[in-house]
Amino acid sequence: MATVVIVGAQWGDEGKGKVVDLYTANADMVVRYAGGPNAGHTLVVGGEKTIVRLVPSGILHEQTSCVLGQGMVIDPTVLLAEIEMLDKRGVTARKRLWVSDRAHVILPYHIIVDSLRESGLNAIGTTKRGVGPCYEDKIARRGVTIGTLMDAQKTQKAVEQALSAWAPVVAALGGSLPTVAEVTDKLGAIREELAPMVCDAAKRVHEAIVAKKNILMEGAQGTLLDIDHGTYPFVTSSTATAGGACTGAGIGPTQIDAVVGLVKAYTTRVGGGPFPTELNDATGERLRQRGGEFGSVTGRPRRTGWLDLPALRYATRINGLNGFAFTKLDVLSGEDTLQVCTSYKVNGKVTDDLPLDGIAEPVYETFAGWKEDLSSCSSMESLPGAARDYVRMVEKALGIPAWLVGTGQERAATIVTHDPMVR
Ligand code: GDP
Ligand code: IMO
Ligand code: MG
Repeated sequence: MATVVIVGAQWGDEGKGKVVDLYTANADMVVRYAGGPNAGHTLVVGGEKTIVRLVPSGILHEQTSCVLGQGMVIDPTVLLAEIEMLDKRGVTARKRLWVSDRAHVILPYHIIVDSLRESGLNAIGTTKRGVGPCYEDKIARRGVTIGTLMDAQKTQKAVEQALSAWAPVVAALGGSLPTVAEVTDKLGAIREELAPMVCDAAKRVHEAIVAKKNILMEGAQGTLLDIDHGTYPFVTSSTATAGGACTGAGIGPTQIDAVVGLVKAYTTRVGGGPFPTELNDATGERLRQRGGEFGSVTGRPRRTGWLDLPALRYATRINGLNGFAFTKLDVLSGEDTLQVCTSYKVNGKVTDDLPLDGIAEPVYETFAGWKEDLSSCSSMESLPGAARDYVRMVEKALGIPAWLVGTGQERAATIVTHDPMVR
């Protein structure tokens, strides 16, 4: 038995979906512990692509139950649409899906507030899915939980309270809010559909641990988007780091056996905020095109740049990583040389620490590239020498092993050197 946490080590989109799907071959349960429909996790199996935003990425494995933990913010309309999309593909999600009664509900006014703010001067490039305002309601202790949603009267009261709190904010932003009835009228049908899936998720996870099941905790977003540890204020509103698995799934730190960091072989970021190794040139465009770096939720072109080792050492420390999954190595094939940021220069001084404002000049080292296509590589030994050296260089810089190397989008396009689910 093992409980393993998967966490993004960069700014999200590192390939968490693919790796969770792959590891689920040996998992009895997958728990999403943070975030909401701002996430887009891509699974590619036998040429068929599935993008999940709320449903855990283990859902394609029929033997596995999937849990939406209390750390999440859930837009029920998006969730039900996702379940229907899976149904159409012959994936019966409903019977294996459990939704925490303590998770918070994204309602239309959250999306209105998010969108209004994003059209103003303080925009940070959110996904406009209502995630930030929903977490604000949670912290302000006026949120609508999934448990509340199951009770029409309680929902009515909670929505009234939230709408009156948001009214002056929305008026100041020049927008307008729906009425209480407009919000609640649509919730009856949603309530009925969701009810069979709603449960005390933390208890269900605990029972799985007691029964010695294999459990995967699926993170969303990434370390540098974490509300506490990311490049604030250009972050999301949840605990995206490994600590979030404890609060977001309802387990104690002593119940976690391993934490795997997801590391893309280069760096990307969607939305605003500092990005020391960003490439605004032809190389950046090549990485974007070759890596298909366009947002899976919003379709926005992702910003691209070189690998940032100080940022990854930070992620290794903050998450207590035991190993990492190194994705998209194939995207670097064809580059003559690779630049890697090994430290920063801040106010003329060399440092490993990104300052609070995230403004730092990267200090680069150059590594040899390789030309070969990696699609036929099924072991570390079969990788071109320069590609293998690149992986080894990152292992050395972080002091942890690469347990997996990604060589393509497909589930099968993966070199696995160690599976933390198998103990
Ligand atoms: P997530 O949010 O971390 O789950 O990542 P996304 O799914 O948003 O973005 C990662 C993208 O890279 C998706 O299109 C994946 O199919 C793709 N991907 C994942 N691993 C690999 C890999 O090793 N090689 C290539 N070429 N693509 C990959
Ligand atoms: P996955 O799980 C990449 C970014 C947004 C924006 C900031 C705040 O697919 O890796 P929000 O809508 O959360 O209030 O936006 O966070 N962001 C992500 N970037 N991948 C994600 O998720 C993201 N989720 C949020 O682009 O900069
Ligand atoms: Mg994504």
